[in-house]
Amino acid sequence: MSLVEVIDLRFAWPDGTQALQGASLALEDGRSLALVGRNGAGKSTLLLHLNGILHGTGAVRVKGRPVEDWPADELRATVGLVFEHPEDQLFMPTVLEDVSFGPLNLGLKPDEARERATAVLRSVGAAELAQRPPHHLSAGQMRRVALATALAMEPEVLVLDEPVMALDPEGREAIIELLAGLPQAKIIAGHDLEMVLQLADEVAILDAGRVHALGPTRELLADDALLRAHGLRVPASLRGA
Ligand SMILES: Nc1ncnc2c1ncn2[C@@H]1O[C@H](COP(=O)(O)OP(=O)(O)OP(=O)(O)O)[C@@H](O)[C@H]1O
Ligand SMILES: [Mg+2]
Repeated sequence: MSLVEVIDLRFAWPDGTQALQGASLALEDGRSLALVGRNGAGKSTLLLHLNGILHGTGAVRVKGRPVEDWPADELRATVGLVFEHPEDQLFMPTVLEDVSFGPLNLGLKPDEARERATAVLRSVGAAELAQRPPHHLSAGQMRRVALATALAMEPEVLVLDEPVMALDPEGREAIIELLAGLPQAKIIAGHDLEMVLQLADEVAILDAGRVHALGPTRELLADDALLRAHGLRVPASLRGA
């Protein structure tokens, strides 16, 4: 049984845009899968199905159980999703309250929740932002805080949409190292293929709402013809290899 399974998923947005047209993939426990593909391919739409925010047709199963059969709270504690636009997931008056919110919901005592939130903020390089209102942060600061809100839940699966977008080079490196050191299985969408090389065991190439290839990261990301056919390019570190 796969940890996460997506089978023939189809979804149209209310305006009729067919974002997913039979997408399938599977994530095994302890593994990391990257979802890559051109703008509008359907990556973010697919990720929003993994913890029950969107519901398409086809099947999405977490630990063998269809997402629609999970109690919403339990699913969100099991699958930690970091949105592409971090402002969509930050809503409390301060960063510390936002990062403590999940742990409090899980039943931690206020002191424990605050301690966990403080430690997680430190781990993503955002300790000094604890008392700031989330909506007045820079793009990169907001992204770190959004990641902290997911990590603070200690989910079994991390689903990350563009986790290093807008981060400065030092912060990008630090977050990649942090993510590489986490034991959880991960699904990561992104255009930063060097990040994908560092973090993903496997890559799925999504185009027009379908997965066109799924395989070992180095094999797929070195395949110039395959990548070009889907609007992608071989990352610099694999060119000429
Ligand atoms: N809220 C929405 N309402 C209508 N259409 C949408 C909405 N969000 C996304 N879409 C459309 O769904 C399709 C897939 O978009 P999605 O955001 O999933 O792509 P993506 O692969 O994440 O792209 P990017 O690399 O730009 O982040 C696109 O055609 C997009 O225009
Ligand atoms: Mg996206």
